[in-house]
Amino acid sequence: MPGIRSARSAKKAIIGGLTMSKQDTAVFDDLLREQREFPPTRAFAAGANARDRSLYDRADKDLLAYWADQASELSWAKPWSKVLQWEPPHARWFVGAKFNMAANCLDRHLAGPRRNKAAIIWESEAGEVRTLTYLQLHREVCKFANVLKELGVAKGDRVAIYLPMVPEAAIAMLACARIGAIHNVVFGGFSPEALSERINDSEAKVLITADGGWRRGNVIPLKENSDRAIESCPSIRHVVIVRNLPGEHHLLHVVEGRDHWWHRLMDRRSADCAPAEVDAEDPIYILYTSGTTGKPKGIVHAAGGYAVGCYATCKYVFDLRDDDIFWCTADIGWVTGHSYVVYGPLLAGATILMYEGAPDYPDKERWWDIVERHRVSILYTAPTAIRTCMKWGADLPAKHDLSSLRLLGSVGEPINPEAWMWYQENVGGGRCPVVDTWWQTETGSIMISGLPGVSTMKPGFAGQALPGIKAIILDEQGKEVKEGSGFLALTHPWPSMLRTIWGDDERYVKTYFSKWDNKTYFAGDGAKKDDKGNYMLLGRIDDVLNVAGHRIGTMEIESALVSHPAVAESAVVGKSHDVKGQAVVAFVTLKTGLKFDDSMKDTLKKHVVDKIGALARPEDILFASELPKTRSGKIMRRLLRDIAEGRALGDVTTLADPAVVQALREDYEEHYGG
Ligand code: WT7
Repeated sequence: MPGIRSARSAKKAIIGGLTMSKQDTAVFDDLLREQREFPPTRAFAAGANARDRSLYDRADKDLLAYWADQASELSWAKPWSKVLQWEPPHARWFVGAKFNMAANCLDRHLAGPRRNKAAIIWESEAGEVRTLTYLQLHREVCKFANVLKELGVAKGDRVAIYLPMVPEAAIAMLACARIGAIHNVVFGGFSPEALSERINDSEAKVLITADGGWRRGNVIPLKENSDRAIESCPSIRHVVIVRNLPGEHHLLHVVEGRDHWWHRLMDRRSADCAPAEVDAEDPIYILYTSGTTGKPKGIVHAAGGYAVGCYATCKYVFDLRDDDIFWCTADIGWVTGHSYVVYGPLLAGATILMYEGAPDYPDKERWWDIVERHRVSILYTAPTAIRTCMKWGADLPAKHDLSSLRLLGSVGEPINPEAWMWYQENVGGGRCPVVDTWWQTETGSIMISGLPGVSTMKPGFAGQALPGIKAIILDEQGKEVKEGSGFLALTHPWPSMLRTIWGDDERYVKTYFSKWDNKTYFAGDGAKKDDKGNYMLLGRIDDVLNVAGHRIGTMEIESALVSHPAVAESAVVGKSHDVKGQAVVAFVTLKTGLKFDDSMKDTLKKHVVDKIGALARPEDILFASELPKTRSGKIMRRLLRDIAEGRALGDVTTLADPAVVQALREDYEEHYGG
């Protein structure tokens, strides 16, 4: 089995230009030759929600009827008149229908045996456990929905949520959905500036935050961050603060009339709140994600179709059943947390395990301890986490009884076969199917994955397009690539697709539906396919990095760097990293007369963290007296990537001044000792 390094170099061959050298292709071929295959076990298939290929057949025969079947398992306040109305590049699903997400996640289950079943089992970093049954969760959601109404939030208004992984995060999201308000969850690791940018773009009226979050026993000052953020957020009228810290931490700055404690607002609040009648096409939420410009994109999802995508994938990909305890380790600040911590599992009536803290607190066995104590049956995590666990050693999971696990999932970046195998053997005990799920913030739910009771899994491959999803690999001209690599595209709308970019429909059209024709969705990933239609994902092909499974735009980091008074110009590229997949490397030129030294480096790193958040912190900052540019003035990122990776230099014939690159390379080699 090739090691992490060789698998990574296979991947990097495609990033940035879709060109592969002979040497890189050879690594790929090795990988494929050594390919092991894992057909579904009879035991799993026997009880699975999807046991044969009939779902694929149904969708192939009549795609709209397939989606209508899926949708009809949810409850609709008013039926649709048309399944799909497609006016490329826009699509509307379940046209004319009325739908409430919270009612489908909660009320729908209250009439039957799920009423008193655990909806959320939450464990704090300190080890406190709280369980909310479907009935209890329903009550909290209704109460908080009434709180929101009293704070002046109406249907269509935006509510920003900046919370740690606490049950109140799910309650707040569902309360918004109940009254038809649009939530905008911002990851708790983002800086005040990033928070304020997202609040302002969405013009949120209310911000829901906490006094603090916990990470490895340290407090993340969410309220202080919020205070700094909303200094420049004129739309915010109220701030609700969840109490998550013990007594001695409560010397908080509370602004009379603007700031309110969650528990005080909830006190004696009525639990009676009828779900609002929301149009299937009304936005359920906005979630910001990085693109190729400095400005994040507010991805807008529509209530009805989004729910159908989350529900169907939970049923078939995760095979969710009533006795499952489903643990998706993502933070609610990312789309994975929206679709597979909160909405999908609740729509499916499952029990969600939610953990607040770090995987290595108080020690590196915390995850396995959680699986053992709560009898987690399905674990869904990211390759970067799996590689971290690999580093910590197989003896740690081996010390725990993980026999409750029956299915494992991976998401966020390509999983190298070595990590896939490690996961399968050391976490899954060789007994659990592993699903590698490809999707994006924009797609809303999983698009490409094997089905655990049906598909033969191949490490390194995400599998086939799911029933109802039409994927293809295209070349630059839009011709199908049958052999070799190309651009991954989706050729037919799907219910959980994004509807637009908040406030910028033109950018939506330009980013996703302009590469070829206006019917073909451009995903931004490179891919290749085997003869059975299994996709191997090869990473982003645009100027977007994937650091530890989180998408971050190079332009965002560049604008953060140039906002520092010392920086004249900067270019950011990705460098392969054994654990994180990619790491950020920044090249900077300083204003004349300024000295580049270690302290400058630290200052600039800190500046990026202050501007965006720790997830964007450059692994390294390199000084450049000049950046390599084409004669037309475009920065040649490909060359910078070559330098950062320590590869032989690519073609420099179009370069305005080839000497610039050589000088840069020498700087870099000196820095790393050659
Ligand atoms: C990008 C989307 C949606 C999940 C969390 C990330 C990469 C995601 C896989 C996978 C290879 C993957 C792609 C995609 N990606 N899953 N299974 N195999 N790559 O969401 O932040 O919207 O990022 O993550 O590059 O475009 P996101």
